[in-house]
Amino acid sequence: MKYIIAIIKPHRLDPVRDALAEIGVTGMTVSEVQGYGRQRGQKEIYRGAEYEVHFLPKVKLEIATDDGLVDQAVEALQSTVQTGQIVDGKIFVLDLNQVIRIRTGETDASAL
Ligand SMILES: Nc1ncnc2c1ncn2[C@@H]1O[C@H](COP(=O)(O)OP(=O)(O)OP(=O)(O)O)[C@@H](O)[C@H]1O
Ligand SMILES: [Mg+2]
Repeated sequence: MKYIIAIIKPHRLDPVRDALAEIGVTGMTVSEVQGYGRQRGQKEIYRGAEYEVHFLPKVKLEIATDDGLVDQAVEALQSTVQTGQIVDGKIFVLDLNQVIRIRTGETDASAL
């Protein structure tokens, strides 16, 4: 199992949710976060510009998936969000050791 964390622009949330639901993702967690990447929260970096970092509003998605779905989920995420411009966002894929559905005690793939 994998745990996918994606940091995207807030207005891309609805299309991403729809794309992931379509391929069979059964749940996700969404948070409003702030962040910056290589441009340090600025549209462009000018040579000699004063060093300053700005946090920009972002949406963080967290999705636990079975190994069989992870490639499709990452692909759906990327293709839905990608514009080719800077600040399209980032996807992190982590190993996921254990999942437990609290109601039933089911574990791992059957708990997703
Ligand atoms: N190294 C990092 N660690 C944790 N979060 C990051 C990291 N880099 C980017 N992020 C998060 O992802 C968001 C989007 O980053 P962004 O798409 O600007 O990445 P980038 O590496 O600068 O790529 P690009 O050059 O396409 O802009 C950031 O606002 C931040 O929340
Ligand atoms: Mg960036």
